[in-house]
Amino acid sequence: MKGFLVGIILTLVVLALAVVLYVRSSRMSVAATDAPLPFETTLAKMGLHARVQSEAPKRDVSGFSTAQLLIGANVYQNDCSFCHSQPQQSDSVAGTGMYPHAPQLFKSDDMVTDDPAGVTYWKVKNGIRLTGMPSFKSALSEDQLWDVAALLARADKLPPEVLDVLKVAAPVPASTSETPAGATGKLGKTH
Ligand code: HEC
Repeated sequence: MKGFLVGIILTLVVLALAVVLYVRSSRMSVAATDAPLPFETTLAKMGLHARVQSEAPKRDVSGFSTAQLLIGANVYQNDCSFCHSQPQQSDSVAGTGMYPHAPQLFKSDDMVTDDPAGVTYWKVKNGIRLTGMPSFKSALSEDQLWDVAALLARADKLPPEVLDVLKVAAPVPASTSETPAGATGKLGKTH
């Protein structure tokens, strides 16, 4: 019995050492472009799914008015489009350069129109750990969180006035010289 216990302890020590050696070997996936670690994707998805299923509130947002969707569209434009892009726009460079990628929420393959709005509400409110998805709990009001969740639930059938808000802003004219933007002040904040 004693030998058996010593065997188990030794195995655990060897495993722990192997993990430390691997982490220090400079081969571990740490860059956004690296392949995921074994089981990383499966474990992360399982954990997120279980948590969201137990905590996401249930609410029917199908009756949300155009005024509420407009608020959601403004929130999206200001806080989300940088990573998740807009309708009719090319993919976000920042969002698709992340690991995991930020889904392009107005592209048919990536839309979350099949998810209950409460699931989207939970993800926007709490964020998703170890990904680029921030928590907007302290930045947005409860109403704004629901309005943006309702917007994404209906991303494939939004009224035209809501789509108008989700248009790309006119690009800031590029400086003709190579002078850094800060030096000329031309590309500074416009709002
Ligand atoms: C800095 C980049 C960034 C910003 C800003 C951002 N997100 Fe995300 N978001 C991500 C990433 C990365 C993921 C993917 C997380 C994952 O794979 O689990 C994500 C995931 C999501 C998902 C889950 C999609 C799915 O398929 O389940 C939703 C919904 C979402 N974001 C909505 C929003 C909304 C709404 C906002 C603005 C209020 C926002 N995000 C702002 C990076 C961002």
